[in-house]
Amino acid sequence: MANFLSPFLLWFVYYACIVHVTAKQWPAVELGGSTKFYDFKVQTKRITKLCTSKDIVTINGMFPGPVVYAQEGDKVIVKVTNETPFNTTIHWHGVRQKLSCWFDGPSYITQCPIQGGQSFTYQFTLVQQKGTFLWHAHVSWLRGTVYGAIVVYPKRGVPYPFKHPDGEQIIILGEYWLKDVLQLERDVLASGGVPPPTDAYLINGYPGPNYKCSANDVYKMDVIPGKRYLLRIINAALNVEHFFAIANHKLTIVEADAEYTKPFTVDRLMIAPGQTINVLVKADQPIGKYSMAMGAYMSARKVQFQKVPAVAFFQYTGASLSSFALTAQLPCYNDNLAVKTVMDGLRSLKPVNVPLQIDTNLFFTIGLNVQKCHSSNPKQNCQAANGGVLAASINNISFIMPKVSLLQAYYNKMNGHFTEDFPGVPLKMYDFVNGAPNNIPIDTQSSSGTRTRVLKYGSRVQLILQDTGTVSTENHPIHLHGYSFYVVGYGSGNYNPRTAKLNLVDPPYMNTIGVPVAGWAAIRFVADNPGVWFLHCHLEIHASWGLSMAFIVKNGNGETESLPPPPTDLPKC
Ligand code: C2O
Repeated sequence: MANFLSPFLLWFVYYACIVHVTAKQWPAVELGGSTKFYDFKVQTKRITKLCTSKDIVTINGMFPGPVVYAQEGDKVIVKVTNETPFNTTIHWHGVRQKLSCWFDGPSYITQCPIQGGQSFTYQFTLVQQKGTFLWHAHVSWLRGTVYGAIVVYPKRGVPYPFKHPDGEQIIILGEYWLKDVLQLERDVLASGGVPPPTDAYLINGYPGPNYKCSANDVYKMDVIPGKRYLLRIINAALNVEHFFAIANHKLTIVEADAEYTKPFTVDRLMIAPGQTINVLVKADQPIGKYSMAMGAYMSARKVQFQKVPAVAFFQYTGASLSSFALTAQLPCYNDNLAVKTVMDGLRSLKPVNVPLQIDTNLFFTIGLNVQKCHSSNPKQNCQAANGGVLAASINNISFIMPKVSLLQAYYNKMNGHFTEDFPGVPLKMYDFVNGAPNNIPIDTQSSSGTRTRVLKYGSRVQLILQDTGTVSTENHPIHLHGYSFYVVGYGSGNYNPRTAKLNLVDPPYMNTIGVPVAGWAAIRFVADNPGVWFLHCHLEIHASWGLSMAFIVKNGNGETESLPPPPTDLPKC
Protein backbone atom coordinates (compact mmCIF):
# COMPACT_ATOMS: atom_id res chain seq x y z
CA MET A 1 0.00 0.00 0.00
CA ALA A 2 1.26 3.44 -0.79
CA ASN A 3 1.61 6.22 1.71
CA PHE A 4 -0.89 8.99 1.85
CA LEU A 5 -0.63 12.47 3.14
CA SER A 6 -4.21 13.51 2.83
CA PRO A 7 -7.66 12.01 2.79
CA PHE A 8 -8.06 13.34 -0.74
CA LEU A 9 -5.34 11.09 -1.97
CA LEU A 10 -6.74 8.16 -0.05
CA TRP A 11 -10.08 8.71 -1.63
CA PHE A 12 -8.51 8.80 -5.03
CA VAL A 13 -6.53 5.64 -4.62
CA TYR A 14 -9.46 3.64 -3.34
CA TYR A 15 -11.85 5.08 -5.83
CA ALA A 16 -11.25 2.24 -8.25
CA CYS A 17 -12.90 -0.25 -5.94
CA ILE A 18 -15.88 1.90 -5.08
CA VAL A 19 -18.43 1.41 -7.73
CA HIS A 20 -20.95 4.17 -7.43
CA VAL A 21 -20.14 6.89 -5.02
CA THR A 22 -22.57 9.77 -5.13
CA ALA A 23 -19.95 12.46 -4.77
CA LYS A 24 -16.37 12.36 -5.90
CA GLN A 25 -14.51 14.31 -3.30
CA TRP A 26 -14.48 14.79 0.38
CA PRO A 27 -15.28 17.23 1.84
CA ALA A 28 -15.80 19.92 -0.78
CA VAL A 29 -19.09 18.71 -2.22
CA GLU A 30 -20.18 16.32 0.51
CA LEU A 31 -22.81 17.03 3.08
CA GLY A 32 -23.64 14.73 5.97
CA GLY A 33 -26.88 12.96 5.20
CA SER A 34 -25.91 11.76 1.75
CA THR A 35 -25.72 8.12 0.70
CA LYS A 36 -22.51 6.18 0.07
CA PHE A 37 -22.67 3.04 -2.07
CA TYR A 38 -20.04 0.32 -1.96
CA ASP A 39 -19.75 -2.91 -3.84
CA PHE A 40 -18.07 -5.71 -1.88
CA LYS A 41 -17.23 -8.81 -3.85
CA VAL A 42 -16.11 -11.68 -1.66
CA GLN A 43 -13.29 -13.24 -3.65
CA THR A 44 -10.39 -15.56 -3.08
CA LYS A 45 -6.96 -14.31 -3.95
CA ARG A 46 -3.55 -15.92 -4.00
CA ILE A 47 -0.99 -14.08 -1.90
CA THR A 48 2.58 -14.76 -0.90
CA LYS A 49 3.91 -14.00 2.56
CA LEU A 50 6.80 -15.45 4.55
CA CYS A 51 7.93 -17.33 1.41
CA THR A 52 4.66 -19.23 1.12
CA SER A 53 1.69 -18.75 -1.20
CA LYS A 54 -1.89 -19.51 -0.32
CA ASP A 55 -5.43 -18.51 -1.24
CA ILE A 56 -7.13 -16.16 1.14
CA VAL A 57 -10.67 -14.80 1.18
CA THR A 58 -10.76 -11.05 0.51
CA ILE A 59 -13.11 -8.27 -0.44
CA ASN A 60 -12.47 -7.12 -4.03
CA GLY A 61 -9.12 -8.93 -3.97
CA MET A 62 -7.72 -6.47 -1.45
CA PHE A 63 -5.90 -7.30 1.77
CA PRO A 64 -6.60 -5.48 4.03
CA GLY A 65 -9.95 -4.77 2.41
CA PRO A 66 -11.29 -1.50 0.97
CA VAL A 67 -11.85 1.46 3.25
CA VAL A 68 -15.43 2.62 3.72
CA TYR A 69 -15.50 6.43 3.85
CA ALA A 70 -18.50 8.42 5.00
CA GLN A 71 -19.52 11.45 7.00
CA GLU A 72 -21.53 11.63 10.18
CA GLY A 73 -25.21 11.28 9.35
CA ASP A 74 -24.61 9.49 6.04
CA LYS A 75 -26.45 6.44 4.93
CA VAL A 76 -24.11 3.62 3.89
CA ILE A 77 -25.24 0.93 1.47
CA VAL A 78 -22.91 -2.00 0.85
CA LYS A 79 -23.87 -4.76 -1.53
CA VAL A 80 -21.97 -7.91 -0.57
CA THR A 81 -21.80 -10.56 -3.27
CA ASN A 82 -20.24 -13.85 -2.33
CA GLU A 83 -18.14 -15.23 -5.17
CA THR A 84 -16.50 -17.86 -2.96
CA PRO A 85 -17.86 -21.15 -1.66
CA PHE A 86 -17.40 -19.93 1.93
CA ASN A 87 -20.26 -18.64 4.05
CA THR A 88 -19.79 -14.93 4.72
CA THR A 89 -21.28 -12.05 6.65
CA ILE A 90 -19.87 -8.57 7.31
CA HIS A 91 -20.16 -6.81 10.67
CA TRP A 92 -19.76 -3.02 10.92
CA HIS A 93 -17.95 -3.04 14.22
CA GLY A 94 -18.84 -0.05 16.40
CA VAL A 95 -21.67 1.18 14.18
CA ARG A 96 -24.59 1.34 16.57
CA GLN A 97 -27.18 0.28 13.97
CA LYS A 98 -30.00 2.34 15.43
CA LEU A 99 -33.20 0.52 14.42
CA SER A 100 -31.20 -1.48 11.85
CA CYS A 101 -30.28 -4.63 13.76
CA TRP A 102 -30.95 -6.71 10.61
CA PHE A 103 -27.79 -5.22 9.09
CA ASP A 104 -25.45 -5.78 12.05
CA GLY A 105 -23.88 -8.87 10.53
CA PRO A 106 -22.98 -11.51 13.17
CA SER A 107 -23.89 -14.87 11.64
CA TYR A 108 -26.65 -16.82 13.36
CA ILE A 109 -27.32 -13.83 15.61
CA THR A 110 -28.88 -11.26 13.25
CA GLN A 111 -28.70 -13.12 9.94
CA CYS A 112 -27.90 -16.39 8.27
CA PRO A 113 -24.63 -16.37 6.33
CA ILE A 114 -24.47 -15.20 2.73
CA GLN A 115 -23.83 -18.47 0.92
CA GLY A 116 -21.68 -18.88 -2.19
CA GLY A 117 -23.32 -17.19 -5.18
CA GLN A 118 -25.69 -15.12 -3.05
CA SER A 119 -25.69 -11.47 -2.13
CA PHE A 120 -27.05 -9.28 0.63
CA THR A 121 -27.20 -5.49 0.78
CA TYR A 122 -26.35 -3.90 4.11
CA GLN A 123 -27.91 -0.49 4.80
CA PHE A 124 -27.38 1.65 7.85
CA THR A 125 -27.12 5.28 8.90
CA LEU A 126 -24.27 6.74 10.92
CA VAL A 127 -26.53 8.41 13.48
CA GLN A 128 -24.43 10.72 15.65
CA GLN A 129 -21.34 8.69 14.92
CA LYS A 130 -17.99 9.70 13.49
CA GLY A 131 -14.43 8.51 13.83
CA THR A 132 -12.56 5.29 13.13
CA PHE A 133 -14.33 1.93 13.01
CA LEU A 134 -13.64 -1.39 11.38
CA TRP A 135 -15.64 -3.88 9.38
CA HIS A 136 -14.90 -7.57 9.42
CA ALA A 137 -16.39 -10.93 8.48
CA HIS A 138 -18.46 -12.35 11.32
CA VAL A 139 -18.64 -16.04 10.60
CA SER A 140 -16.15 -18.73 11.64
CA TRP A 141 -12.58 -17.33 11.62
CA LEU A 142 -13.00 -15.64 8.28
CA ARG A 143 -12.18 -12.24 9.74
CA GLY A 144 -8.60 -13.48 9.86
CA THR A 145 -8.32 -12.09 6.32
CA VAL A 146 -11.62 -10.30 5.72
CA TYR A 147 -11.34 -6.93 7.41
CA GLY A 148 -10.93 -3.24 6.69
CA ALA A 149 -11.34 0.26 8.06
CA ILE A 150 -14.36 2.54 8.24
CA VAL A 151 -13.53 6.25 8.40
CA VAL A 152 -16.36 8.61 9.24
CA TYR A 153 -15.54 12.31 9.01
CA PRO A 154 -17.35 14.95 11.04
CA LYS A 155 -20.16 16.82 9.33
CA ARG A 156 -19.06 19.53 6.94
CA GLY A 157 -17.78 22.56 8.75
CA VAL A 158 -17.39 20.73 12.05
CA PRO A 159 -13.71 20.71 13.01
CA TYR A 160 -11.86 18.10 15.03
CA PRO A 161 -11.47 19.12 18.68
CA PHE A 162 -7.73 19.46 17.98
CA LYS A 163 -5.68 21.33 15.41
CA HIS A 164 -6.33 19.79 12.02
CA PRO A 165 -3.52 17.32 11.30
CA ASP A 166 -1.28 17.75 8.25
CA GLY A 167 -2.01 14.21 7.16
CA GLU A 168 -3.67 11.05 8.29
CA GLN A 169 -3.03 7.36 7.95
CA ILE A 170 -4.89 4.15 8.74
CA ILE A 171 -2.79 1.63 10.67
CA ILE A 172 -4.64 -1.66 10.75
CA LEU A 173 -3.15 -4.50 12.77
CA GLY A 174 -3.67 -8.15 11.86
CA GLU A 175 -2.40 -11.66 12.36
CA TYR A 176 -1.25 -14.07 9.68
CA TRP A 177 -1.26 -17.84 9.49
CA LEU A 178 0.45 -19.95 6.87
CA LYS A 179 -2.42 -22.37 7.25
CA ASP A 180 -5.85 -21.59 5.86
CA VAL A 181 -7.74 -19.87 8.71
CA LEU A 182 -10.93 -21.89 8.26
CA GLN A 183 -8.92 -25.11 8.33
CA LEU A 184 -7.03 -23.82 11.34
CA GLU A 185 -10.28 -23.16 13.17
CA ARG A 186 -11.58 -26.66 12.44
CA ASP A 187 -8.30 -28.22 13.55
CA VAL A 188 -8.07 -26.22 16.77
CA LEU A 189 -11.66 -26.91 17.76
CA ALA A 190 -11.29 -30.60 16.93
CA SER A 191 -8.16 -30.85 19.06
CA GLY A 192 -9.82 -29.58 22.21
CA GLY A 193 -6.59 -27.71 22.90
CA VAL A 194 -5.12 -24.26 22.36
CA PRO A 195 -4.52 -22.64 18.96
CA PRO A 196 -0.95 -22.53 17.68
CA PRO A 197 0.79 -19.16 17.74
CA THR A 198 0.14 -17.01 14.70
CA ASP A 199 2.96 -17.07 12.14
CA ALA A 200 3.28 -13.28 11.96
CA TYR A 201 1.67 -10.06 13.02
CA LEU A 202 0.85 -7.59 10.27
CA ILE A 203 0.74 -3.81 10.01
CA ASN A 204 -1.45 -2.77 7.07
CA GLY A 205 -1.00 -6.30 5.73
CA TYR A 206 2.81 -6.33 6.00
CA PRO A 207 4.84 -8.40 8.50
CA GLY A 208 8.06 -6.40 8.24
CA PRO A 209 11.72 -7.37 8.44
CA ASN A 210 11.63 -9.40 11.67
CA TYR A 211 10.13 -12.40 9.90
CA LYS A 212 11.67 -14.70 7.33
CA CYS A 213 11.53 -13.60 3.67
CA SER A 214 9.96 -10.31 4.74
CA ALA A 215 12.81 -7.78 4.56
CA ASN A 216 10.96 -6.01 1.75
CA ASP A 217 7.45 -6.95 2.80
CA VAL A 218 7.22 -3.95 5.06
CA TYR A 219 4.80 -1.09 5.39
CA LYS A 220 6.33 2.40 5.14
CA MET A 221 4.73 5.67 6.08
CA ASP A 222 6.51 8.75 4.69
CA VAL A 223 6.41 11.80 6.90
CA ILE A 224 7.57 15.36 6.46
CA PRO A 225 9.71 16.80 9.24
CA GLY A 226 7.71 19.08 11.50
CA LYS A 227 4.28 17.87 10.36
CA ARG A 228 1.58 16.37 12.57
CA TYR A 229 -0.22 13.17 11.63
CA LEU A 230 -3.42 11.51 12.72
CA LEU A 231 -3.00 7.75 12.92
CA ARG A 232 -6.20 5.73 12.91
CA ILE A 233 -5.03 2.58 14.67
CA ILE A 234 -7.33 -0.42 14.36
CA ASN A 235 -6.80 -3.85 15.82
CA ALA A 236 -8.25 -6.46 13.48
CA ALA A 237 -6.18 -9.34 14.89
CA LEU A 238 -7.87 -12.62 15.75
CA ASN A 239 -6.58 -14.01 18.98
CA VAL A 240 -4.05 -11.70 20.63
CA GLU A 241 -4.09 -8.20 22.12
CA HIS A 242 -1.26 -5.88 21.14
CA PHE A 243 1.08 -3.15 22.22
CA PHE A 244 1.94 -0.48 19.65
CA ALA A 245 4.75 2.08 19.70
CA ILE A 246 6.82 4.28 17.39
CA ALA A 247 10.52 4.67 18.18
CA ASN A 248 11.30 8.04 19.84
CA HIS A 249 7.83 9.43 19.12
CA LYS A 250 5.05 10.15 21.53
CA LEU A 251 1.47 9.22 20.75
CA THR A 252 -1.31 11.56 21.83
CA ILE A 253 -4.58 9.63 22.11
CA VAL A 254 -7.52 11.77 20.98
CA GLU A 255 -10.18 9.18 20.20
CA ALA A 256 -11.01 5.64 21.35
CA ASP A 257 -13.67 3.44 19.72
CA ALA A 258 -14.78 6.39 17.58
CA GLU A 259 -15.47 8.78 20.46
CA TYR A 260 -13.26 11.75 21.32
CA THR A 261 -11.14 11.54 24.44
CA LYS A 262 -9.22 14.13 26.40
CA PRO A 263 -5.80 14.29 24.75
CA PHE A 264 -3.49 11.91 26.60
CA THR A 265 0.13 11.38 25.65
CA VAL A 266 1.83 8.00 25.94
CA ASP A 267 4.99 6.28 24.71
CA ARG A 268 3.07 3.16 23.78
CA LEU A 269 -0.46 1.86 23.94
CA MET A 270 -2.35 -1.40 24.21
CA ILE A 271 -5.08 -2.01 21.69
CA ALA A 272 -7.29 -5.08 21.81
CA PRO A 273 -8.90 -6.77 18.81
CA GLY A 274 -12.03 -4.79 17.96
CA GLN A 275 -10.74 -1.52 19.40
CA THR A 276 -9.77 1.57 17.45
CA ILE A 277 -7.58 4.36 18.80
CA ASN A 278 -6.75 7.62 17.03
CA VAL A 279 -3.47 9.25 17.97
CA LEU A 280 -1.63 12.39 16.91
CA VAL A 281 2.06 12.03 16.20
CA LYS A 282 4.42 14.88 15.50
CA ALA A 283 7.39 14.25 13.21
CA ASP A 284 9.60 16.26 15.56
CA GLN A 285 12.68 14.03 15.75
CA PRO A 286 15.96 14.21 13.83
CA ILE A 287 15.47 13.20 10.20
CA GLY A 288 15.70 9.44 10.04
CA LYS A 289 13.90 6.16 9.83
CA TYR A 290 11.97 4.99 12.90
CA SER A 291 10.24 1.72 13.47
CA MET A 292 6.58 1.34 14.34
CA ALA A 293 6.12 -1.90 16.21
CA MET A 294 3.24 -4.15 17.14
CA GLY A 295 3.87 -6.90 19.68
CA ALA A 296 1.80 -9.20 21.86
CA TYR A 297 0.18 -8.31 25.16
CA MET A 298 -0.39 -11.73 26.71
CA SER A 299 -1.83 -11.74 30.20
CA ALA A 300 -2.77 -15.43 30.43
CA ARG A 301 -0.34 -17.89 31.97
CA LYS A 302 1.42 -20.66 30.05
CA VAL A 303 0.14 -19.76 26.61
CA GLN A 304 2.23 -20.11 23.47
CA PHE A 305 2.12 -17.00 21.32
CA GLN A 306 4.09 -15.20 18.63
CA LYS A 307 6.75 -13.17 20.41
CA VAL A 308 8.30 -11.51 17.37
CA PRO A 309 6.83 -8.06 16.75
CA ALA A 310 5.71 -6.80 13.38
CA VAL A 311 7.60 -3.69 12.28
CA ALA A 312 6.75 -0.91 9.86
CA PHE A 313 8.73 2.25 9.09
CA PHE A 314 7.90 5.81 10.01
CA GLN A 315 10.36 7.48 7.68
CA TYR A 316 11.18 11.13 7.29
CA THR A 317 11.56 12.68 3.87
CA GLY A 318 15.28 13.13 3.44
CA ALA A 319 16.30 10.10 5.48
CA SER A 320 18.64 7.69 3.80
CA LEU A 321 16.54 4.72 2.77
CA SER A 322 19.27 2.25 3.47
CA SER A 323 19.74 3.50 7.02
CA PHE A 324 18.77 1.27 9.90
CA ALA A 325 15.47 2.02 11.56
CA LEU A 326 15.63 3.01 15.18
CA THR A 327 13.94 0.27 17.20
CA ALA A 328 10.67 0.94 18.99
CA GLN A 329 10.50 -0.09 22.62
CA LEU A 330 7.53 -2.29 23.39
CA PRO A 331 6.63 -3.22 26.96
CA CYS A 332 7.25 -6.76 28.14
CA TYR A 333 4.45 -9.05 26.87
CA ASN A 334 2.82 -9.30 30.31
CA ASP A 335 3.22 -5.69 31.44
CA ASN A 336 -0.23 -5.19 32.98
CA LEU A 337 0.80 -1.84 34.37
CA ALA A 338 1.47 -0.49 30.88
CA VAL A 339 -2.09 -1.47 30.01
CA LYS A 340 -3.53 0.18 33.11
CA THR A 341 -1.62 3.41 32.41
CA VAL A 342 -3.32 3.76 29.04
CA MET A 343 -6.72 2.85 30.46
CA ASP A 344 -6.37 5.38 33.28
CA GLY A 345 -5.84 8.09 30.69
CA LEU A 346 -8.98 7.40 28.66
CA ARG A 347 -11.54 10.07 29.53
CA SER A 348 -14.37 11.38 27.41
CA LEU A 349 -13.51 14.77 26.00
CA LYS A 350 -16.58 16.41 27.54
CA PRO A 351 -18.68 15.52 30.57
CA VAL A 352 -21.11 12.84 29.42
CA ASN A 353 -24.63 11.71 30.10
CA VAL A 354 -23.98 8.55 32.16
CA PRO A 355 -27.12 6.82 33.43
CA LEU A 356 -27.12 7.56 37.16
CA GLN A 357 -30.19 5.55 38.17
CA ILE A 358 -29.84 1.89 37.31
CA ASP A 359 -32.83 -0.41 36.93
CA THR A 360 -31.05 -3.49 35.61
CA ASN A 361 -27.99 -4.68 37.49
CA LEU A 362 -26.12 -7.51 35.84
CA PHE A 363 -23.00 -9.35 36.94
CA PHE A 364 -21.26 -11.57 34.38
CA THR A 365 -18.19 -13.68 35.08
CA ILE A 366 -15.97 -14.27 32.07
CA GLY A 367 -13.39 -16.98 31.80
CA LEU A 368 -12.18 -20.29 30.50
CA ASN A 369 -13.25 -23.84 31.27
CA VAL A 370 -12.01 -27.35 30.73
CA GLN A 371 -14.75 -29.89 29.96
CA LYS A 372 -14.52 -33.62 30.40
CA CYS A 373 -13.56 -35.58 27.31
CA HIS A 374 -16.46 -37.31 25.58
CA SER A 375 -14.56 -38.40 22.50
CA SER A 376 -13.74 -41.98 21.61
CA ASN A 377 -10.40 -40.65 20.48
CA PRO A 378 -9.14 -38.55 23.39
CA LYS A 379 -5.59 -38.34 22.01
CA GLN A 380 -6.93 -36.48 19.01
CA ASN A 381 -9.82 -34.51 20.46
CA CYS A 382 -9.03 -33.85 24.11
CA GLN A 383 -5.68 -32.09 24.14
CA ALA A 384 -6.35 -29.64 26.97
CA ALA A 385 -4.85 -30.17 30.44
CA ASN A 386 -5.65 -33.56 32.03
CA GLY A 387 -7.17 -34.85 28.81
CA GLY A 388 -9.97 -32.31 28.77
CA VAL A 389 -11.48 -29.99 26.18
CA LEU A 390 -11.11 -26.22 26.38
CA ALA A 391 -14.18 -24.03 26.56
CA ALA A 392 -15.04 -20.51 27.65
CA SER A 393 -18.13 -19.01 29.19
CA ILE A 394 -20.10 -16.13 30.65
CA ASN A 395 -21.62 -16.90 34.05
CA ASN A 396 -20.25 -20.37 33.43
CA ILE A 397 -22.51 -20.90 30.41
CA SER A 398 -20.84 -21.63 27.09
CA PHE A 399 -22.84 -20.16 24.22
CA ILE A 400 -24.01 -22.55 21.51
CA MET A 401 -24.61 -20.99 18.10
CA PRO A 402 -28.17 -21.64 16.94
CA LYS A 403 -28.93 -23.08 13.50
CA VAL A 404 -31.12 -20.13 12.47
CA SER A 405 -30.51 -16.49 13.28
CA LEU A 406 -31.70 -15.48 16.73
CA LEU A 407 -33.16 -12.26 15.42
CA GLN A 408 -35.32 -14.14 12.90
CA ALA A 409 -36.32 -16.70 15.50
CA TYR A 410 -37.25 -13.93 17.93
CA TYR A 411 -38.98 -11.72 15.37
CA ASN A 412 -41.00 -14.56 13.87
CA LYS A 413 -41.69 -16.17 17.25
CA MET A 414 -40.12 -19.47 16.18
CA ASN A 415 -39.92 -21.86 19.11
CA GLY A 416 -37.05 -24.03 20.16
CA HIS A 417 -34.03 -22.04 19.01
CA PHE A 418 -33.12 -20.17 22.18
CA THR A 419 -34.21 -19.57 25.75
CA GLU A 420 -34.62 -16.30 27.62
CA ASP A 421 -33.09 -17.44 30.89
CA PHE A 422 -29.52 -16.17 30.74
CA PRO A 423 -28.80 -15.51 34.44
CA GLY A 424 -28.15 -11.94 35.56
CA VAL A 425 -25.68 -13.13 38.18
CA PRO A 426 -23.44 -16.21 38.43
CA LEU A 427 -25.24 -19.31 39.68
CA LYS A 428 -22.44 -19.86 42.18
CA MET A 429 -20.64 -17.12 44.10
CA TYR A 430 -17.02 -17.71 45.09
CA ASP A 431 -13.72 -15.86 45.20
CA PHE A 432 -13.63 -15.47 41.41
CA VAL A 433 -10.02 -14.44 41.08
CA ASN A 434 -8.16 -16.29 43.81
CA GLY A 435 -10.48 -19.08 44.80
CA ALA A 436 -11.55 -20.17 41.34
CA PRO A 437 -12.10 -23.89 40.79
CA ASN A 438 -9.05 -25.34 39.11
CA ASN A 439 -9.22 -29.09 39.49
CA ILE A 440 -9.22 -29.80 35.75
CA PRO A 441 -11.62 -31.07 34.45
CA ILE A 442 -13.45 -32.12 37.64
CA ASP A 443 -14.73 -28.72 38.70
CA THR A 444 -13.84 -26.52 35.73
CA GLN A 445 -16.79 -27.43 33.52
CA SER A 446 -19.41 -25.06 32.21
CA SER A 447 -22.96 -25.77 31.16
CA SER A 448 -24.00 -24.76 27.68
CA GLY A 449 -26.95 -23.37 25.81
CA THR A 450 -28.31 -20.68 23.53
CA ARG A 451 -29.54 -18.49 26.33
CA THR A 452 -30.45 -14.83 25.99
CA ARG A 453 -31.22 -12.06 28.44
CA VAL A 454 -34.26 -9.88 27.72
CA LEU A 455 -34.04 -6.14 28.38
CA LYS A 456 -37.05 -3.87 28.47
CA TYR A 457 -36.83 -0.93 26.08
CA GLY A 458 -35.14 1.96 27.84
CA SER A 459 -33.69 -0.07 30.73
CA ARG A 460 -30.73 1.59 32.32
CA VAL A 461 -28.23 -1.19 32.59
CA GLN A 462 -25.12 -1.60 34.68
CA LEU A 463 -23.09 -4.65 33.79
CA ILE A 464 -20.13 -5.82 35.86
CA LEU A 465 -17.70 -7.97 33.89
CA GLN A 466 -15.63 -10.09 36.24
CA ASP A 467 -12.61 -12.10 35.12
CA THR A 468 -12.20 -15.49 36.79
CA GLY A 469 -9.11 -17.54 37.59
CA THR A 470 -10.45 -20.84 36.31
CA VAL A 471 -7.72 -22.27 34.02
CA SER A 472 -6.06 -18.82 33.91
CA THR A 473 -6.96 -15.22 34.51
CA GLU A 474 -6.68 -13.12 31.36
CA ASN A 475 -7.55 -9.72 29.93
CA HIS A 476 -10.64 -10.30 27.74
CA PRO A 477 -11.73 -7.66 25.19
CA ILE A 478 -15.52 -7.77 25.61
CA HIS A 479 -17.50 -6.28 22.73
CA LEU A 480 -21.18 -5.34 22.74
CA HIS A 481 -23.05 -4.99 19.46
CA GLY A 482 -25.62 -2.24 18.90
CA TYR A 483 -24.35 0.09 21.61
CA SER A 484 -21.48 2.04 22.99
CA PHE A 485 -21.24 1.90 26.76
CA TYR A 486 -19.67 4.07 29.42
CA VAL A 487 -16.76 2.36 31.12
CA VAL A 488 -17.53 3.76 34.58
CA GLY A 489 -15.01 1.71 36.50
CA TYR A 490 -12.49 -1.10 36.55
CA GLY A 491 -10.03 -2.54 38.97
CA SER A 492 -8.12 -5.60 40.01
CA GLY A 493 -9.43 -8.45 42.14
CA ASN A 494 -13.11 -9.11 42.74
CA TYR A 495 -15.62 -6.34 42.16
CA ASN A 496 -16.82 -4.94 45.46
CA PRO A 497 -19.70 -2.45 45.24
CA ARG A 498 -18.67 -0.88 48.53
CA THR A 499 -15.13 -0.04 47.52
CA ALA A 500 -15.39 0.28 43.73
CA LYS A 501 -14.64 3.82 42.57
CA LEU A 502 -16.82 4.86 39.66
CA ASN A 503 -16.27 7.72 37.24
CA LEU A 504 -19.70 9.14 36.48
CA VAL A 505 -18.36 12.38 35.03
CA ASP A 506 -16.15 11.69 32.02
CA PRO A 507 -15.80 7.92 31.48
CA PRO A 508 -14.83 6.78 27.97
CA TYR A 509 -17.68 5.69 25.69
CA MET A 510 -16.53 2.47 24.07
CA ASN A 511 -17.78 -0.65 22.33
CA THR A 512 -14.96 -3.03 23.32
CA ILE A 513 -13.44 -3.07 26.77
CA GLY A 514 -10.34 -4.99 27.78
CA VAL A 515 -11.45 -6.26 31.18
CA PRO A 516 -8.31 -6.19 33.35
CA VAL A 517 -6.64 -9.53 33.95
CA ALA A 518 -7.75 -10.89 37.35
CA GLY A 519 -10.02 -7.88 37.65
CA TRP A 520 -13.34 -6.37 36.65
CA ALA A 521 -14.91 -3.58 34.63
CA ALA A 522 -18.23 -1.84 35.11
CA ILE A 523 -20.13 -0.58 32.06
CA ARG A 524 -23.40 1.31 31.71
CA PHE A 525 -25.77 1.84 28.82
CA VAL A 526 -29.43 2.59 28.15
CA ALA A 527 -31.09 -0.24 26.20
CA ASP A 528 -32.81 1.99 23.67
CA ASN A 529 -32.02 0.09 20.48
CA PRO A 530 -34.39 -2.83 19.91
CA GLY A 531 -33.06 -6.07 18.45
CA VAL A 532 -30.82 -8.99 19.27
CA TRP A 533 -27.33 -7.88 20.24
CA PHE A 534 -24.32 -10.10 20.63
CA LEU A 535 -21.94 -9.69 23.56
CA HIS A 536 -18.70 -11.61 23.24
CA CYS A 537 -14.98 -11.80 23.75
CA HIS A 538 -13.27 -10.37 20.66
CA LEU A 539 -10.49 -12.95 20.92
CA GLU A 540 -11.92 -15.23 18.25
CA ILE A 541 -10.84 -18.47 19.89
CA HIS A 542 -12.67 -17.50 23.09
CA ALA A 543 -15.83 -16.69 21.14
CA SER A 544 -15.53 -20.08 19.40
CA TRP A 545 -15.25 -21.71 22.81
CA GLY A 546 -18.47 -20.04 23.94
CA LEU A 547 -17.49 -16.74 25.60
CA SER A 548 -20.61 -15.03 24.26
CA MET A 549 -24.27 -14.36 24.96
CA ALA A 550 -27.00 -12.25 23.40
CA PHE A 551 -29.32 -9.56 24.69
CA ILE A 552 -32.83 -9.22 23.34
CA VAL A 553 -33.90 -5.59 23.59
CA LYS A 554 -37.66 -5.26 23.32
CA ASN A 555 -39.46 -2.65 21.24
CA GLY A 556 -40.63 0.52 22.95
CA ASN A 557 -43.63 2.57 21.89
CA GLY A 558 -44.37 3.40 18.29
CA GLU A 559 -42.27 3.34 15.16
CA THR A 560 -39.33 5.33 16.49
CA GLU A 561 -38.77 2.74 19.22
CA SER A 562 -39.47 -0.42 17.23
CA LEU A 563 -37.43 -2.62 14.96
CA PRO A 564 -38.68 -2.45 11.36
CA PRO A 565 -39.41 -5.69 9.46
CA PRO A 566 -36.50 -7.60 7.88
CA PRO A 567 -35.15 -6.68 4.44
CA THR A 568 -36.45 -8.89 1.66
CA ASP A 569 -33.00 -10.12 0.61
CA LEU A 570 -32.04 -11.37 4.10
CA PRO A 571 -30.11 -14.61 3.47
CA LYS A 572 -31.76 -17.93 4.26
CA CYS A 573 -30.07 -20.61 6.34
CU1 C2O B 1 -16.05 -7.03 15.90
CU2 C2O B 1 -19.10 -9.39 17.15
O1 C2O B 1 -17.49 -8.28 16.53
